[in-house]
Amino acid sequence: MINAPKGTKDILPKDSYKWQFIERTARETAAVYNADEIRTPTFEHTEVFQRGVGETTDIVNKEMYTFLDKGGRSITLKPEGTAGVARAFVENGMQSTALPVKMYYITQCFRYERPQAGRLREFHQFGVEFIGSFEPSTDAEVILLAKSFLDKLGIKDISLRINSIGCKKCRAGYQTALKNYLSEKRDGLCELCKERLGKNPMRVLDCKNKECASIMAGAPLITDYICDECRSHLEKTTKLLESAGVKFVIDPKIVRGLDYYTRTVFEFVSENIGAQGTVLGGGRYDGLISQFGGTEVPGIGFAAGLERLLLVMENTGVVIPEKRSVKIYFAPMGEKESERAFALAQTLRGLKIACDTDHMKRGIKSQFKYADKIGAEYVGVIGSDEYERGTVKIKNMADGSEREVGDEDIIKFLNGEI
Ligand code: HAM
Repeated sequence: MINAPKGTKDILPKDSYKWQFIERTARETAAVYNADEIRTPTFEHTEVFQRGVGETTDIVNKEMYTFLDKGGRSITLKPEGTAGVARAFVENGMQSTALPVKMYYITQCFRYERPQAGRLREFHQFGVEFIGSFEPSTDAEVILLAKSFLDKLGIKDISLRINSIGCKKCRAGYQTALKNYLSEKRDGLCELCKERLGKNPMRVLDCKNKECASIMAGAPLITDYICDECRSHLEKTTKLLESAGVKFVIDPKIVRGLDYYTRTVFEFVSENIGAQGTVLGGGRYDGLISQFGGTEVPGIGFAAGLERLLLVMENTGVVIPEKRSVKIYFAPMGEKESERAFALAQTLRGLKIACDTDHMKRGIKSQFKYADKIGAEYVGVIGSDEYERGTVKIKNMADGSEREVGDEDIIKFLNGEI
């Protein structure tokens, strides 16, 4: 037997309705915020992520699926959606269209991480990117979209944490303060953080090592270094959230693990799924588009991991509505009856009625069992008598009632007209 690679998961037919529910909810939520779908390639030139996500991040350093293709180009499977969207935005001249451009995607992502609950090597994201506005109203709108999506999924007990990590200008002051603080404690840092210290001290904040984390506990906070404009931007954003009745906490420790962020960063965190509690994360990226050769066009977005959403929903008892889609299962009791059942099923399918019939030469009892398993609303039995009369004995699986109906009246019966 060949197993699926470590960190990947099959989504089986018995579970796919859960995924479809989340995806449908994502699309419906995006639509009411006037966001259209964008689909970018599964793989990009490696440079897209090196430039976009940042050379000093864990994603680029340790987690990317990078390989040379047969033409000798360095290719990377997308570890996240934002960088590819930014590349596509510039490449397709979207900066000269009406702004903001509001987009969403549902996509596979790939990160070479140590698999655990809620952490896979291939996972799925629902992401949203609003590109083109500096206004705090976009920040608030994106966060409200995220909140509305989580609400519609029935996810409760999830806290929204917000912070501002400043702009290029004020971040420089913070980085210097952080570097000074960490330099004094350099010996206590892990080898990787010693390296991070030289390249990008803010990435020490992502380190999972206990000693590094305890050193970071006493580190200067970005909140004390942000400039007046960035502070006012955060205040306007949170004011809009307050007036929309959304609860949040300002958490100065949230910096996020990707280099493109500026100003607003936010996370929705659940206490119900263990260590990987961040279900949804996002922020503003005002310098990202220009890195792909575009003009200074700001943007903000988020992504939620579908696997983590499902985990929260399962752990908190959210029941996902299962669609019973098979209207009628035809249960033939012999060779010629099977031919009739096959033809009837085909006719009904042509009229967009979901139906099925036997392909296993099962006896009538096990056909009923099968019909029950696939959630058929009705079972239409065709025995030799029904065959002779040109009828079907239709049983309502919910209440057990039965009625013999002529072949030509099946549709009327299923529509409740007779
Ligand atoms: P991120 O925080 O790296 O942000 O990922 C967003 C979400 O993807 C996480 O909150 C988590 O639910 C899910 N996720 C990440 N890694 C894994 C994994 N290995 N297994 C399962 N789920 C995972 C971004 O990706 C940004 N592009 C978000 C964004 C969009 N910011 C602005 N626009």
